[in-house]
Amino acid sequence: MAAPITVPLFDLNYGPEETEAALRVLQSKWLTQGDETTAFEKEFAEYLGVNHAVAITNCTAALHLACLAAGAGPGDEVITSALTFAASANAIRYTGATPIFADVKSFDDWTLDPDDIERKITPRTKAILVVHYAGFGCDMERIQAIAQKNKLKIIEDCAHSVGASRGPKKLGSEGDFSCFSFFSNKNLSTGEGGMICTNDAEAAAQIRLWRSHGMTHSTLDRHRGHAYTYDVVTLGYNYRIDEIRSALGRAQLGKLDVANARRRELAALYKELFAGFDGLQIPFCGAEFCVPTSDPNYHIFPVLLGNGIDRPSLMAALRERGIQSSVHYRPVHTFSAFREAYPGVSLPLTEQIGLRVLTLPIYPAMSDEQVRVVVENLEDIKDCKDAKDK
Ligand SMILES: Cc1ncc(COP(=O)(O)O)c(C=O)c1O
Repeated sequence: MAAPITVPLFDLNYGPEETEAALRVLQSKWLTQGDETTAFEKEFAEYLGVNHAVAITNCTAALHLACLAAGAGPGDEVITSALTFAASANAIRYTGATPIFADVKSFDDWTLDPDDIERKITPRTKAILVVHYAGFGCDMERIQAIAQKNKLKIIEDCAHSVGASRGPKKLGSEGDFSCFSFFSNKNLSTGEGGMICTNDAEAAAQIRLWRSHGMTHSTLDRHRGHAYTYDVVTLGYNYRIDEIRSALGRAQLGKLDVANARRRELAALYKELFAGFDGLQIPFCGAEFCVPTSDPNYHIFPVLLGNGIDRPSLMAALRERGIQSSVHYRPVHTFSAFREAYPGVSLPLTEQIGLRVLTLPIYPAMSDEQVRVVVENLEDIKDCKDAKDK
């Protein structure tokens, strides 16, 4: 029997603040999108430094609306990464557009390669959907220049990157649209939830309409007697968030910077302990990620295993010792639904990383001792480490 889990992959950063937030909503007796949501949007927009934030049921829905707002539709192409969760590419497909996968930069920098983006632009390209993998920012300066030159919109998938920066600006404040996830295991968690941010007032108004069936007035407006009827002016969706999640989001936003700072301390300790460690490489150690203006948020802590290490056996051995690990990600284009729809995609770096990545535990309540336990156990599992890939 496997040992009880002593080092989980992730643990919620919840306390009395979240309990108070949920109770406040229950006592208010207003559960669907209302004043808490409006306040969450305002606080999030201020935090990020953007003009508009629209709270959404989840990041997948946010990405769908961002793709629509970018004008993507049947016959169009949107360039994105394959080293991501399927949602980034699915959202493109919802609009009828085709995801075109570009490779990542290198074994050190797993963000989209601007050169490969440029190579993949065609007359049908509508947008570039960047993914700030693990909370490490893409090279937005170069990607913005490419987008400007080719008149393309930029959508930032910030599911991993809330509170992170590369350069002086926060990730999610530079593209045309940025989409955040507040899924349980994210740095800001509400169970399910998301946010779409933009500086474009017209697009924000359109997104608000799409979020709730294209209706001109909300249930709250009508409840308060501000409106007695409504029109449906466009094809919309039910992508609304609710008040408990928005209240949880506000509590989590208040704790985010401290929580991210703790993640950075833990990452620094991992790096120190792994120095000289045979058989794995830590990505994102290049100069651009190690300057004071770049503050990754270490949403996850991925490492690149040496060639020939048997990953499934290594993960099973860790699990037997009570340590959870994971894989972020099997590249999207290798899944059946994508292979069938888009055969022949080749992304040499992404594919190698997909085979060799191992995600280690990291979360704000993790202790230094737990980091040591992970590193010592990895070192100890020599048999697996040295085993050949099956
Ligand atoms: C990179 C990335 N994009 C999008 C999503 C989708 O987020 P959500 O679960 O909020 O729809 C996730 C979720 O894990 C993700 O990791």
